[in-house]
Amino acid sequence: MEYIRIFDTTLRDGEQTPGVSLTSEQKLEIAVQLDKLGVDVIEAGFPSSSEGEQKAVKAIVAAGLKAEVCCLTRTKKDDLDIAISCSPNSIHTFISTSEVQMKYALNMTREQVLKAAVDSVQYIKDHGLICEFSPMDATRTDLAFLRKICKAAEEAGADRINIPDTVGIMEPYSMEKLIRELKDVVKTPLSVHCHNDFGLAVANSLAGVVGGASQVHVAVNGLGERAGNASLEEVVMGLHLIYKKKTGVNTQLIYNTSRLVSRLTGVVIQPNKAIVGENAFSHESGVHTRGVTVEPLTFEPFSPEVVGRRRRLIAGKLAGKHGIKAELDELGLHPNEEQLMKIVSRVKELGDKGKSVTDDDLFAIARTIIGEAEEEKIINLTDLAVTTGIHVIPTASVKLTLDGKEYIAAETGVGPVDAAIRAIQKITDNLASVRLKEYRLEALTGGSNAVAEVIIKVEDKYGNVVSARGAREDIVMASVEAMVNGINKLLTRQRRMK
Ligand code: KIV
Ligand code: ZN
Repeated sequence: MEYIRIFDTTLRDGEQTPGVSLTSEQKLEIAVQLDKLGVDVIEAGFPSSSEGEQKAVKAIVAAGLKAEVCCLTRTKKDDLDIAISCSPNSIHTFISTSEVQMKYALNMTREQVLKAAVDSVQYIKDHGLICEFSPMDATRTDLAFLRKICKAAEEAGADRINIPDTVGIMEPYSMEKLIRELKDVVKTPLSVHCHNDFGLAVANSLAGVVGGASQVHVAVNGLGERAGNASLEEVVMGLHLIYKKKTGVNTQLIYNTSRLVSRLTGVVIQPNKAIVGENAFSHESGVHTRGVTVEPLTFEPFSPEVVGRRRRLIAGKLAGKHGIKAELDELGLHPNEEQLMKIVSRVKELGDKGKSVTDDDLFAIARTIIGEAEEEKIINLTDLAVTTGIHVIPTASVKLTLDGKEYIAAETGVGPVDAAIRAIQKITDNLASVRLKEYRLEALTGGSNAVAEVIIKVEDKYGNVVSARGAREDIVMASVEAMVNGINKLLTRQRRMK
């Protein structure tokens, strides 16, 4: 099986996602996870852009990861020197080669661009580093000039030549053809870097591999400039399962990596996103839920565990008896036939009213019909204090009783809500290891004394997801109440499953 190298640019192009800015600690956390995931190259940043970026790259280099740590530079001596001072394994140097960018972005002639590229590659090689060269906007570059600059970079010693589809205008057939044409000109390994402006970044990257590229630039969750880069998870799974290629990626870590990146960047994953979206392995219609309950391959291309996930059967108006029964089994509830039929008809009634029925709703409906008691109040909040302000780190201390025993914890956070939720998690982590998946705040009435309703979704280590609410005039209290309710629901459910 042919090995395709995965060049991850989450921390560079991914950080160029509008609205995303990571601290050096967050970048390091992501880099460590990418290394565990098994990517070949981590593009750690663009050091000349800021001191913080240099600090982040240095920290990632110092972490001694298995992956090659790379940084990006323009073909300018100052950029190169700053990057070299960060001691990466490799430098990815780029310069625009399309007429429009050379004229309006660089104000340089072809000859000047060619010389800058060659000088830059030689400088990197003279410093003993691996060099990857990118003719930026390659896919809008005159083909003769593109060939010439790729050849010149090869002769100057470039170890890899990356072909960026900078504004995402390619389609798979022309991408494959372009890479084949360039392979006739250079022997240096080729790479592709595709943007998603027309939603074709993954398809174009895979086509680049078909054309002969041996490396693909990707970003977790498809982050990147504008519409983003080719997504790591889609490219890797496509390479493994459709094109039968090998990569170093441990696919079982894909979902956790995606969650980490989403949490730290604040970019929420759309529910219908392939591989990592909430719905990617969820089934609702009766035909599908029945099918996957009997044989998962009926309606799944591969099993969710391959990417570190689990299948979810959603109760909704399209749901069938089998799906709901399977879902209830997982929730630890076992209605008899008559009760099951009542539950199914209640779920369909709600679905017909346009309500989507969450696991939590299903649990509540089933519990009522089966006649079981309310969940126990396993944890109770007995005290809460928060401090926040301009010159203080938001801090919260909470007092809880858990199974009747009292616990106290304090934590800091980005704000008082974050601090309070972290303090609760500190106490309950060993027991429930609950992760906040979604947080929504709604003001029910106007004014600064409005009642705030907090709606959260929390997930435990078994993949159980419940939603919970809290409503108070104080946002921190409402958030804490929702969190405590959510943890109680999960603990009740866990205890029932035993
Ligand atoms: O999209 C692009 O062209 C880039 C370059 C820096 C390679 O990100
Ligand atoms: Zn890019």
